[in-house]
Amino acid sequence: MAEAARVAPPEYGAFPAYVRPAVTGIETQQILAVSQTALGDKSVIPLWYGESDVPTPGFIRKTAEAALEAGATFYSHKRGTPELRGALADYMSDLYGRGIAADRVSVTASGMSAIMMLFQCLLDQGDNAVIVCPVWPNAQSVVRALGGEARFHALDRMPEGGWRLDVEALKQKCDARTRALFVNSPNNPTGWVLPAEQIAELLAFARERGIWIVADEVYARMVYEGRAAPSFLEQAEPDDPVLIVNSFSKSWAMTGWRVGWAVHPANFGDLLGNMIEFNYSCVPPFVMAAAEVALKEGEPFVGQMIDYCRTGRDIVAQRLPNLPHVADFETPEASFYAFFRVEGTQARTLAFAQELVRTAKVGVAPGTAFGPGAEGWYRLCFAQKPETVAEAMNRLEGALTRL
Ligand SMILES: Cc1ncc(COP(=O)(O)O)c(C=O)c1O
Repeated sequence: MAEAARVAPPEYGAFPAYVRPAVTGIETQQILAVSQTALGDKSVIPLWYGESDVPTPGFIRKTAEAALEAGATFYSHKRGTPELRGALADYMSDLYGRGIAADRVSVTASGMSAIMMLFQCLLDQGDNAVIVCPVWPNAQSVVRALGGEARFHALDRMPEGGWRLDVEALKQKCDARTRALFVNSPNNPTGWVLPAEQIAELLAFARERGIWIVADEVYARMVYEGRAAPSFLEQAEPDDPVLIVNSFSKSWAMTGWRVGWAVHPANFGDLLGNMIEFNYSCVPPFVMAAAEVALKEGEPFVGQMIDYCRTGRDIVAQRLPNLPHVADFETPEASFYAFFRVEGTQARTLAFAQELVRTAKVGVAPGTAFGPGAEGWYRLCFAQKPETVAEAMNRLEGALTRL
């Protein structure tokens, strides 16, 4: 099985007492290894992270301020206020046209922490999770930090372009120690969307084998056609082995607020509630008030975010495929990333991304950060002001012309 290109863990030096090797062995995050090259250089255009430059809208910020003023400064409900859980249940029921009860919903301090806590519930030492890649790197690190094995299953690159999941091959990666299939759709970094038919196949397999599906749907609304990407929530029954991760970070421009949610079977709620208690007790109540208003009044804003990203996407789609050495770029149908190859760089993907920071003053993420099979690929986030995206393209053109 192909191994991901790994970067050595940082040199920590000696600790005064024992620290778990599963934790010290976590490699340096490759995106960080690129961004550190800039060392506070303000002239670099940073397209390496998964974040737009759009500030959280005023109506959300003001709600948090008002909640703080009104005294929302105490411990709150660990799985989220009844108001926010109810609003989430209504939001998803409306979006997916199927009743989703509030007892299946838990508010979490971000999508990231939902992933951590779900895996804390699922993995014993030596268990494995099969992770569909290329994918945002943190899920694999969580699995490793918990003493599990992150087992990759790479999407197939189609000769005509685009990505495809080979479900039969994925099934072959599972064994008696497989506790979860981690699937991120819409996908970061490729923009690939898991089709409804394959959701059905994965669901049938998970039921039959008693394996959890952890479906990371944080880009569910970041689609350029339609209202949302196909979701496991459209097909799963309440007691199916399906755990959904979602977040306010992307579609509501709330990355710094650290608020997301999970959907799970009702009886899983108490487990997750315990994990929330042991990790951070509750999401701050003023943040939950803001998240509630984001859901209830934020639909126009979600639409504006998509239009904003579409503009960035169009600039990239017009320019990037025409740059020297750029290959295999397709306009993504979802998420806010361009994922593309630069010919001749596969043996030095991380180094080339670092070189681009120094020479082009543009920060991109190296494909090797996202699992095996993406050597020579790069990801950039186009959820930025049109002039920023255009200038990044100018700079890339200069650097790639000199390559
Ligand atoms: C695929 C994916 N899942 C989860 C997250 C986590 O989002 P957050 O922790 O901000 O909610 C991200 C953030 O980049 C992501 O790209």
